[in-house]
Formats: sequence, structure tokens, C-alpha cells
Amino acid sequence: MTKLRLGVLASGTGSNLQSILDACAQGRIPAQVAVVISNLTSAKALDRAREAGVRAILLPHQLSPSREAYDEQLVSVLREHEVELVCLAGFMRLITPVLLRAFENRILNIHPALLPSFPGLHAVRQALKAGVKISGCTVHVVDEGTDTGPILVQAAVPVLEGDDEESLAARILAQEHRCYPWALRLWAEGRVALEGRRVRIATARGDPTRQILSPALQGEQP
Ligand code: GAR
Repeated sequence: MTKLRLGVLASGTGSNLQSILDACAQGRIPAQVAVVISNLTSAKALDRAREAGVRAILLPHQLSPSREAYDEQLVSVLREHEVELVCLAGFMRLITPVLLRAFENRILNIHPALLPSFPGLHAVRQALKAGVKISGCTVHVVDEGTDTGPILVQAAVPVLEGDDEESLAARILAQEHRCYPWALRLWAEGRVALEGRRVRIATARGDPTRQILSPALQGEQP
């Protein structure tokens, strides 16, 4: 089976990148990371790529005259590496129609909230401020809006008493590391079909009795 060629864009620690690299290396996804690109020299994601023997490319955005010009550079590197699916993994830059058109419906993103709630920056902080009892993470197809594209996979994470941004973000991040490889596996196995805003997933069986209560019932009756 030929492996789906991924291009991962990351600006930070790269823990989501690592979860993808590990899942590919362990054969859990029929895919390979063809290239990792970062806009920041400091991005640990670049080291993680090199350690995994994957091409790591630094493209500093400060050198580009415009966002569009930057995205043209991204597109040319991604094409050069024959990337079929682009994965934004903590890539902290707004992308333009230049990249969107070149990889139409072939760009995924992970976001630390249950979209469509809390798009944009500081999603975990936004969720805490709004007082929700359940938050989580979302893998979605990227469209022209900010975190507005069709949803592929979500995981719910209860907000606990005493949570602060750091503790909640850490528990959400642990679920991100499950969701992104899972979304990529569904995609790479050809089980994903886009129908307008809805993403149909072949053979995904839900458990109709499964639910998350937050706060949890601990032996009590409601
Ligand atoms: C992740 O929590 C990801 O969801 C978030 O940045 C973090 C990157 O962590 N992305 C966004 O907030 C995008 N709007 P990582 O570098 O360890 O993968």
C-alpha cells in the first residue's frame, strides 16, 4: 500500500507532530511525514523532525513581504516534497487563499477546544472564562475562516474544579495526541467524505449509550 505523504506545519513544541511521527513509525497510519516546516527558529518541532529522520525546513515569515508571498513559499516546499495532505499542528499563522487553493480540502488543523466554540487564540482560556463544564479538542478541515472548517474528530475533556489554563490545556493536549493520529488514519484509509459542512466517516460506529457528565456522578443519583 502506498503511504499518504504528509506535510506538517508547526510553530512550537511539536508534541502533536511527535504523535503523528510515532503513529506513522509504528504503522498505525498508512502515511509518512514527507516534510516538516516551521516559521520559527525556536520551534522544537524542527528538532523532532530531524530526530525522526524527516526533512525539517525553517521558513522564517519575517523575510516575506506579505502573507501571500509566504504561503507561496510554503506551497512550493510542500509540492517539492510531493505532499498530499497538509497538517497544521500548532502552526500559529493565519493562512491565505494561496495555500488554501493549492491544497483545497486537503489541509487539516487541530484546535484545543470543541469547535465551533472558542475559535482563535487562547482557546483554553476562553473556555475557562465562559465557565463550560466540558471542553476538548477538534481536528477539522481548514477553510477560509478561523477554525471554522468541517469537523473530522473531536474529544471531550471535563473541566474540573480547580482547573487553571495549564492543567486543562495539559489534559486536552493528551487527547489531541490521540485525535490527530486517529483523524489521519481515517483519512489515509479513505474513510472520510466531505458533504458540505459534514464529514462522513465510513464504518465509524458510535456507542449510543456513551456520554460524559461533568461534574461526574460519583456513585450518586442525579
Ligand atoms: C496545541 O494545543 C494545538 O491544539 C494548539 O497549539 C498547541 C500546539 O502544541 N493550536 C492552536 O491553538 C491553533 N489555533 P504542540 O506544538 O505541542 O503540538
